[in-house]
Amino acid sequence: MERATEIQLANELLELHARKSAFLNEAATTSPVEIYFDPERFKAERDSILRTAPQPIVHSSELPEPGSFLRRDFAGLPVLFTRDADGAAHAFLNVCRHRGTRLVDDQNGCKQRFSCPYHAWTWNNRGELVGVPHEKQGFPELDRGAMGLKRLGSVEKYGWIWAWASGEEAPNVDDYLAGLAGDLERFDAGQYQLVHMDEEVCSANWKILVEGGIEAYHFRVAHRDTIAPHFLDNLSSYESFGPHMRSIMAKRSLAELPEQPVDDWRLRDHAQVLYSIFPINQFLVQSDHFAWIQLEPISATSTRIRLSTLAPSDRVESDDDMAHWAKNHAITSKTLAEDFDIGESIQAGLESGANEHLNFGRFEGALADFNRHVDSRLNGG
Ligand code: FES
Ligand SMILES: [Fe+2]
Repeated sequence: MERATEIQLANELLELHARKSAFLNEAATTSPVEIYFDPERFKAERDSILRTAPQPIVHSSELPEPGSFLRRDFAGLPVLFTRDADGAAHAFLNVCRHRGTRLVDDQNGCKQRFSCPYHAWTWNNRGELVGVPHEKQGFPELDRGAMGLKRLGSVEKYGWIWAWASGEEAPNVDDYLAGLAGDLERFDAGQYQLVHMDEEVCSANWKILVEGGIEAYHFRVAHRDTIAPHFLDNLSSYESFGPHMRSIMAKRSLAELPEQPVDDWRLRDHAQVLYSIFPINQFLVQSDHFAWIQLEPISATSTRIRLSTLAPSDRVESDDDMAHWAKNHAITSKTLAEDFDIGESIQAGLESGANEHLNFGRFEGALADFNRHVDSRLNGG
């Protein structure tokens, strides 16, 4: 982020801390419980949000060289990402065009061609059909040009391969980022490498999991055994950029900043800076690395979560550095496991009839804003 913004955000939290106030929205709000378990609602969200929004699905370092490929499902679709001989990244449905078998079984690797395990129709990593056994006899009219792998929209930018599943027109990622592109560009995530990734399936609606990451009200209680001692109680701010959000959660050390020259202030050392890229990605700026949380909504009540640690590319060689990233990844993973356990606990009681609505306090305004954006997209906004 820009230097002036960094100082302004630190000052805003310092001023709230001095007044012993949280960052407050106008009013407390509510959220109806059905939106977290209704399958029809989930289908509508999948069609009008999850499949249309361009999302960072794969980090550039996950396709490190020409020929690299990996499988990663998103928005309910099986997807094959490839990097061709010219270095360009592509996203295809991982489905054979003959009779629909899954084309690639390996999770990742390096290959120029993909041959279907059923009858060996073969495509190159640009998605062009290059081989059909007994083609002349069996498929005399076959138009190979029309039988390329089904392509999804994708673009490589700011260190990620962004993909989207539908929509005739390619969305402009910068327009979509609605003012956050500058911050992402400055972080230069392309100069980082993905050094750890955990995956797990959590029995909770994806929105419950997003909501769990954008307020600091729960830190003191839910994270008392992990990060709570490092944070000021219930002190965070946020700003919306279109449907996206930048949240700043104050660490205890922030309170000491006034004793230091402003030129030395470095916000990421004294606060957790979290970018929520609507709808399913969160990018957490740590002192010397990034954590990346990606949700893959599977159903109304189930979500796959991927937690990755991205480390600077010039610090991934030595054992000391790698041990440092492993330790940091484990701390983030343990903290998030606390959030995801709570998410499952919320989900388990949603249909009990105890609540018609969930309640968002004035200092949980980010949750209301997030849901407002979900509603607006569902209604064609
Ligand atoms: S289903 Fe793939 S080659 Fe037949
Ligand atoms: Fe949390």
